[in-house]
Amino acid sequence: MSERTFLLLKPDAIQRGLIGEIISRFEKKGLKLAGLKLLSVSRELAEEHYAEHKGKGFFEPTVSYIMSAPVVAMVWEGPEAVALCRTMMGATNPKNADPGSIRGSYAVDISRNIIHGSDSVESAVREIALYFKSEEILDYAKAG
Ligand code: CMP
Repeated sequence: MSERTFLLLKPDAIQRGLIGEIISRFEKKGLKLAGLKLLSVSRELAEEHYAEHKGKGFFEPTVSYIMSAPVVAMVWEGPEAVALCRTMMGATNPKNADPGSIRGSYAVDISRNIIHGSDSVESAVREIALYFKSEEILDYAKAG
């Protein structure tokens, strides 16, 4: 069933010039890009994004990290897009990520793991609403 997921290219993806390469993977897979923006994340947004991790040791470093340079926020659509994108991203810890996955290809450190993706349809709805206004999600015909 077609669903939406939220993906965030983290600061090191932008600083290392990997935006195009990573977006290209999702395009070539056949997913449909429905929302896209380059932005700086405020502390308020960062804390809201990672609210479920509040109190954990990595919360503050993770919040500081996504505020450290711009990020690219995206909405992608397609059949089982949430699970599909998580497979394409690879394990949260790049050391355990399949070598062909995005984290397996481009990252070595869990705290600089290149990309975030929603872990469920419910998280996707919450995260999309954090980063996008409804009119910023576009519907259009896609070839193929
Ligand atoms: P992300 O998918 O964005 O969700 C939470 C983030 O916290 C995670 O990716 C990592 O970048 C970061 N993080 C840092 N340390 C840890 C850890 N020990 N366990 C889980 N996530 C961590």
